[in-house]
Amino acid sequence: MKITTLSAQQTEALGIRLSKKIKKGNIVGVYGELGAGKTTLIRGIIKAIEGVNLVPSPTFNIIIEYEQIIHMDLYRLGEEDFYSLGLDNLEEKIVLVEWPERFHYFLIPDIKIRIYVENEVKRVIEIDGIPWN
Ligand SMILES: Nc1ncnc2c1ncn2[C@@H]1O[C@H](COP(=O)(O)OP(=O)(O)O)[C@@H](O)[C@H]1O
Ligand SMILES: [Mg+2]
Repeated sequence: MKITTLSAQQTEALGIRLSKKIKKGNIVGVYGELGAGKTTLIRGIIKAIEGVNLVPSPTFNIIIEYEQIIHMDLYRLGEEDFYSLGLDNLEEKIVLVEWPERFHYFLIPDIKIRIYVENEVKRVIEIDGIPWN
C-alpha cells in the first residue's frame, strides 16, 4: 500500500496508525534518504505504543531501547560494531530499524516501509508486509 503525506505531522500520524498492526518480534525496516522522515514515522509508532512524548533520533546513539521497542539507526555503524551490539532479545521486542540495508543479511525486516522524498513537504510512503484487511 502507498500513502502520500504532506507534513511531518501527517507522517507521524501514519506511524500511530501503523502501531496497531505491529507485533512483538516484528522487525520493521524503514528505508529512505537522510531527512526523508524515517525517525518522524517511527516517532509516531513509539509515542502510540510506549506513551512517551520525547522520542529522540538514535542517529548518534545507534540504539534506543524502550519497554516494548528497540529503535536503531544503522547509518553510522561499522561492521565490527554491529556484532558488539549484543542484539540477543530481539524476539521480545518490536524492532524499528533505520537504514536496515546496512546489515540486511542479519536483520531481515518482516515489514518494509520505504519513504520517497517528492519535495520539501511531500513524501510517498510505501508499506509492505502489513495485513490491512
Ligand atoms: N511529509 C513529511 N514527512 C516527514 N517529514 C517531513 C515531511 N515534510 C517535511 N518533513 C521534515 O523532514 C525532516 C525529516 O526528518 P527525520 O524524520 O529525522 O528524517 P530521517 O530519520 O529519515 O533522517 C523533518 O525535519 C521534518 O519536519
Ligand atoms: Mg533518522
